[in-house]
Amino acid sequence: MPSTPADEPALLTALRGERPARTPVWFMRQAGRSLPEYREARAGIAMLDACLDPALAAELTLQPVRRHGVDAAVFFSDIVVPVRQAGVPIDIRPGVGPVLDTPVRTVDDVAALPAPDPDLAAVAEGVRTAVAGLGGTPLLGFAGAPFTLACYLVEGGPSKDHLRTRTLMHADPSTWQALMAWAADVTGAFLRAQVAAGAAAVQLFDSWAGVLSAADYRAHVAPWSRRALAGVGVPAVHFAAQGGELLTELRDVLIDAAGDAAAGAVGIDHRVPLDEASRRLGGRTPVQGNIDPAMLAAPWPVLAEHVRDVLRRGRAAPGHVVNLGHGVPPTADPDVLSAIVRLVHQEGEQV
Ligand code: CP3
Repeated sequence: MPSTPADEPALLTALRGERPARTPVWFMRQAGRSLPEYREARAGIAMLDACLDPALAAELTLQPVRRHGVDAAVFFSDIVVPVRQAGVPIDIRPGVGPVLDTPVRTVDDVAALPAPDPDLAAVAEGVRTAVAGLGGTPLLGFAGAPFTLACYLVEGGPSKDHLRTRTLMHADPSTWQALMAWAADVTGAFLRAQVAAGAAAVQLFDSWAGVLSAADYRAHVAPWSRRALAGVGVPAVHFAAQGGELLTELRDVLIDAAGDAAAGAVGIDHRVPLDEASRRLGGRTPVQGNIDPAMLAAPWPVLAEHVRDVLRRGRAAPGHVVNLGHGVPPTADPDVLSAIVRLVHQEGEQV
């Protein structure tokens, strides 16, 4: 185990499976619609244009760090940015999400995809600018996992059960493998570009993998997430919403990709208490989570007790990064997020 320099950011200490003096906290989707300064800076600018404007992406990345004093920034971008930058005409429609006019569903559709070689110069520039503005606060890069990207490519937009995607996985394995290889290379390039530009850690979002059985995940998804993460060279958080049945699978991808046991943390949504999650993980893997986003609108004493409970249960794991169980809802009160950060920093190591 490497020794801990006194000035190592708490996030990185926790991701190594140790207990920093202060438990680190950040929030998925902390940069975004919940902040008035975000809405002002984004006014009249389309989402993908904002992602590809390095100065604006860096500013949006810094906003929640300034406001809340969180222990990590997460780069402002979107999981479909590298897909678009590889040349696939994908758009982000306000209030809907990523949409493709021509979904990718057949062997010919997959063969017609452009080379998995996205132009990420604007992303790299945005990351460098953000890192320069952050001082000692670490920047998390991120990407969508190949399965979650495949859900958008195959369905053509958001969907509930991802039925077509799951049918393709079983009905046409060779087309599935070609699609997942493409998605792994595109999203892997996105991760590597952020790390090369200064991201200290990354998070792989498999947002929709919770619809899969563990057996399907292992056979048809895990190899491609491993390929996306392989050799990324920094600790990673691996997260699936509704992923309680997949925790050991998510961990194994991390360990296989990094080649050792100190590869990072598994992200836990609000459904599985952290002590139970840690038990499922065998007690050797750091965890990230898992304040229920619904609690953000509850009276402060109720929310504060929930946060203390999350901290207490998180002590069962070797390292704990406090986060929500999923992203910040657009309706969240930013002052409540700031109050959570203060509470975690006060109580993080005492509960
Ligand atoms: O605050 C905001 O949501 C505004 C900016 C915005 C993002 N994505 C930021 C983002 C917008 C408008 C989008 C579009 C989009 N892309 C949506 C939302 C559609 C809507 O209007 O409600 C969705 C669902 C996507 C696809 C997507 N992007 C997924 C599945 C993920 C993984 C995280 C998750 O929520 O499961 C993303 C990542 C993402 N979107 C990030 C940001 C800043 C990076 C991760 C993070 O900040 O934690």
